Amino acid sequence: MRVGVLASGTGTNLQALLDSVHGREVEIVAVASDKPQAQALERARAAGVPARAFPAGDHPGRDARDAAIADWLAAAGVELVVLAGYMQLLGAGFLARFPDRVLNVHPALLPAFPGLDAIGQALDYGVKVFGVTVHLVDEGVDTGPIVLQAAVELPDATGRDEVLAALRPLEHRLLPEAVRRIAAGRLRRDPANPRRVLT
Ligand code: GAR
Repeated sequence: MRVGVLASGTGTNLQALLDSVHGREVEIVAVASDKPQAQALERARAAGVPARAFPAGDHPGRDARDAAIADWLAAAGVELVVLAGYMQLLGAGFLARFPDRVLNVHPALLPAFPGLDAIGQALDYGVKVFGVTVHLVDEGVDTGPIVLQAAVELPDATGRDEVLAALRPLEHRLLPEAVRRIAAGRLRRDPANPRRVLT
């Protein structure tokens, strides 16, 4: 299965994919970012994967940028799009190009704490259990069907860095595992409840 990855930041989740499933269960054939300086682009190039930035200023609006990214991914034969720390919302036009084939990793146990600064939201709320969700992307903000989740108890956590450090290993395990299951054709909707994804 040919995979495209979108990432805005340091790209540790991209790296986990490159190190675990790339060249095995899937081929990562394109990495795009909204940020020309994203370390994720460097990681892709270091692995010999084509990488390209799509900065906002190059496009008349979000839909135009989404379309340019979708065109570039489609030209590379991408069948599955993985959002690995992509900090932009994707519009309905983009999602329609890859139906049920856009995956996201989010640093909270959805449906709690969707959107930006999920870890900060969880800390502010005072939760004792943190976690990671891998889900299919729909038009809402982190509302798509859940594929995998994992949790970690951190009853005394007070800082974002501390929580992120605990979540990293979960993210780096769950995201490749979700990609593996999709590549193996295991993902399907429960006919009794289309919100539920069976893996
Ligand atoms: C990850 O923690 C991921 O869960 C989060 O961005 C980080 C990217 O890290 N994603 C979101 O918050 C999406 N709403 P990385 O660039 O090192 O992979």
